[in-house]
Amino acid sequence: MKQQPRSSPRSARNQRTVSIIGTGSYTPEKILTNEDLSRMVDTSDEWITTRTGIKERRVAAKDETTSDMAAKAALKAIEQAKISPEEIDLLLVATATPDMIFPATACFVQKKIGAKNAACLDVSAACAGFLFAIEIAQQFITSGTYDTALVIGADKLTSITNWTDRNTCVLFGDGAGAAVLGHRGSAHGVISTNMGSDGEYTDILFMPGGGSKTPITAQNAHLNLQTIHMSGKEVYKQAVTAMLAAARRAIDEAGLTVDDIACVIPHQANLRIIEAIGERLGIPREKVFVNVDRYGNTSAAAVAIALDEANRSGRIKSGDYVLMVVFGGGLTWASTIVEW
Ligand code: ACO
Repeated sequence: MKQQPRSSPRSARNQRTVSIIGTGSYTPEKILTNEDLSRMVDTSDEWITTRTGIKERRVAAKDETTSDMAAKAALKAIEQAKISPEEIDLLLVATATPDMIFPATACFVQKKIGAKNAACLDVSAACAGFLFAIEIAQQFITSGTYDTALVIGADKLTSITNWTDRNTCVLFGDGAGAAVLGHRGSAHGVISTNMGSDGEYTDILFMPGGGSKTPITAQNAHLNLQTIHMSGKEVYKQAVTAMLAAARRAIDEAGLTVDDIACVIPHQANLRIIEAIGERLGIPREKVFVNVDRYGNTSAAAVAIALDEANRSGRIKSGDYVLMVVFGGGLTWASTIVEW
């Protein structure tokens, strides 16, 4: 039987509940398979599948931007939430691949969807960004500052992928996912969130060029500084440790036990990381949502897309406790429990 949450610090503090009232997602049409990659670099379907669980990923068109994908996901979430774009007070885009360094990608999305009354900003927390943005939106709604927020995770990682580096190019893909958050007076909603960071590890997953530290110039353009650099093994180790701790904290703070969780939606970076977390938490495999085989790691979009797929496929139902847990460059990590 499902336990009622104890009076958690979060729910005791909340004056207003915050519900996810609509979700949406978008992935580009073009599919890049492991076979395709094996013709580009020295790799194989067997290596990629056994080490990562990825079979294929989506690649955005050359002229398709992060905000294009974000806007498509957002419109689906808005439609499901049965609101008009003008009702959105706050529009957050979590991304590591903004259309431009400024203005914020959220402003481009605002124009594309007609959310003309929204305050717009981007959230930079790499793959963890979607849950960071959920937490930020929740705080604004809980406090009564805003009623309705649109939270988007969107990334075009293929635009910062080094296609000659087999250590990284097999891992990533493009896409966007969105959620509309609102205060609807229902008991259901976000019941536990937490997020954390460790700047000691800025050098294990990063893009060195293109910022104020190392602008891209004619002299350094050949060095691939505008692509993802990653120490895979170290990231793997840190990802498992941080996601496990974040998941356990969210469950504790919600006053739940692992058995109460109906569905876990972890960051979709690598099937081995997902399985390690499921096993160590003691959650049966069938409760863990996986789509990394179809999309690879879409960074801030990953959990957002998975949440939408779980929602629309009926995998999560009203009253279910859903645990989302993410990890990204920074390092950054976050977890959220929603009573659906
Ligand atoms: N095809 C074939 N061989 C490869 C490939 C490839 N695509 N990539 C690496 N190899 C080789 C390596 O060169 C190495 O060869 P060597 O032993 O001769 O040197 C060998 O395979 C083993 O490499 P490892 O690094 O030991 O492989 P590992 O089992 O650690 O798997 C992987 C690598 C998949 C990258 C894993 O470490 C991982 O998933 N790490 C986490 C990555 C991640 O999640 N990143 C994203 C985080 S979220 C974000 O913010 C974007």
